[in-house]
Amino acid sequence: MDHPCREPLRAVEVVMSRIASTTDVKRVAVVGTGVIGASWVAYFLAHGLDVNATDPSPGAEDRLREAVAQHWPTLERFGLAEGASVDRLRFHDSLEDAVSVADFVQENGPERMDFKIDLFRRMDAAAPPDTILASSSSGLAISGVQSGCAHPQRVVLGHPFNPPHLIPLVEVIGGEHTSTDAIERTMAFYAAIGKRPIHVKREVKGHIANRLQAALWREAFHLVDEGVASVADIDTAIAHGPGLRWAVMGPFMNLHLSGGAGGIEHVLAHLGGPIEDWWKDLGAPSMTAELKQKVARGVSDELGARRVTDLEAVRDNLLLDLIRAKADTGKLD
Ligand SMILES: NC(=O)c1ccc[n+]([C@@H]2O[C@H](COP(=O)([O-])OP(=O)(O)OC[C@H]3O[C@@H](n4cnc5c(N)ncnc54)[C@H](O)[C@@H]3O)[C@@H](O)[C@H]2O)c1
Repeated sequence: MDHPCREPLRAVEVVMSRIASTTDVKRVAVVGTGVIGASWVAYFLAHGLDVNATDPSPGAEDRLREAVAQHWPTLERFGLAEGASVDRLRFHDSLEDAVSVADFVQENGPERMDFKIDLFRRMDAAAPPDTILASSSSGLAISGVQSGCAHPQRVVLGHPFNPPHLIPLVEVIGGEHTSTDAIERTMAFYAAIGKRPIHVKREVKGHIANRLQAALWREAFHLVDEGVASVADIDTAIAHGPGLRWAVMGPFMNLHLSGGAGGIEHVLAHLGGPIEDWWKDLGAPSMTAELKQKVARGVSDELGARRVTDLEAVRDNLLLDLIRAKADTGKLD
């Protein structure tokens, strides 16, 4: 139980306590080391794990080591686990070698169903039968991905948010043949290394977080299409408005806090009707060439003379500070 006088834990201690809270996983195989795979590799290494990586693309090992070196200072700011080292990365030319001694596999290959079915069939044949095989896929149904496997019960979706070495959310989803045990072990592993896994109970297009983003984008595009607001106004409305609160806690808890002593029951009693009216009025824009152009022009105006790379650096530094600050409170778990 949380002691009221307890000093807030520092981010690193929170992470370390989660690590101590256990995982049997000591060696992870990362299959496919492009944007997402390389970020996972850095994250696993920073948490003191041994990592076997594989990717058949020419020059993949050099690119991976460069990407890990680039992510490392950020991970150092978060706090490395005991024994964490980039020297614990081993690159394998053969997929089978990479997964054959792994306790957990994180797959990040190209986003094509036929491709993933074959990749999982090969990983399933080579990995120890108890090893979890997790796919980072953003949009493919895991029931399809596991369809060529002899042990489909250990195949799960472990969908990260880009970049996985920074954003804690992972969406865990089982397919038709995934066992409850595999879901539980996957959730426990991610939690033990400081991730914030959620279990998506049913396979739905876009999982949870991307559906929520899509709902917001839909209305944002509609409002621009209708000339109600400029692109910059919409970005201001979110980034300087509710977005600040949403980064602290989610939409339901924010609603609860909006209700004062009466909480969410009070809010829904007096705002439930109006919210339902707004739902009925929301738009359903089409992604026409004109609308795409209008939005692109709006973004360019908003950007002005600023460079995208500078903005990316500002975003990543602020994200890091925010994630650490949230952990430091010890009250937002
Ligand atoms: N980019 C994102 O924002 C994002 C976010 C979450 C999840 N994902 C998912 O992560 C996965 C990877 O996406 P990405 O953006 O890193 O793509 P990417 O193109 O950067 O990387 C894919 C990598 O797979 C490698 N590859 C090709 N054949 C392979 C094989 N037989 N074995 C192993 N590796 C092989 C390629 O060489 C490449 O390095 C996809 O399933 C995608 O849906 C992407």
